[in-house]
Amino acid sequence: MKRFAIFASGSGSNAEAIWEAIERGELSGQCMLLVTDKPEAKVLERADRHHIQTFSFEPKAYASKSEFEWELLVLLEALHVDYIVLAGYMRLIGDVLLAAYPGRIINIHPSLLPAFPGKDAIGQALAANVSTSGATVHYVDAGMDTGPIIAQQEVDIAGCDRIEAAHRIQAIEHQLYPRVLQQVLNQQEVFK
Ligand code: GRF
Repeated sequence: MKRFAIFASGSGSNAEAIWEAIERGELSGQCMLLVTDKPEAKVLERADRHHIQTFSFEPKAYASKSEFEWELLVLLEALHVDYIVLAGYMRLIGDVLLAAYPGRIINIHPSLLPAFPGKDAIGQALAANVSTSGATVHYVDAGMDTGPIIAQQEVDIAGCDRIEAAHRIQAIEHQLYPRVLQQVLNQQEVFK
């Protein structure tokens, strides 16, 4: 069974959807660790509820991104982690982790990439007045939401305000991410 770590910075609803899928027997994989760069993040409470080991760090306490990524790498290797799963981790992954986990870092983004990369994808979609947006799961490279796409799902956001659009997209994310991870971690053919 593949082992993975989740990196998150915020609420952690996607992380929790992944842990629940494991608990229901729908996702075979072992979550070894939750990493957060925000020691106050709500995701830490959710991790505790699911008995997931956590590691919080303050990026400002390190001289550089490489320095904290080396520390994370030591931890990940000690736990024999095969994949890094980003779930609302609000930082670009740097050279240290990209080199150590080539093609084994995955992210979810709340738009149909390549449309609306970067911050506030839902706000960007609403400002552009599109009627359809969605969610994308992709491999991570050095760019901002630019890596190869694994799977996408459309969401109708016509006439939605921000709260409703976010609600609809998150509901899709919570189904899509565990499903795609099941395929990626178990090397099945990934649907588009
Ligand atoms: C999700 O919408 C995800 O697509 C984006 O950040 C958000 C994280 O939400 N990368 P949560 O912390 O999982 O609730």
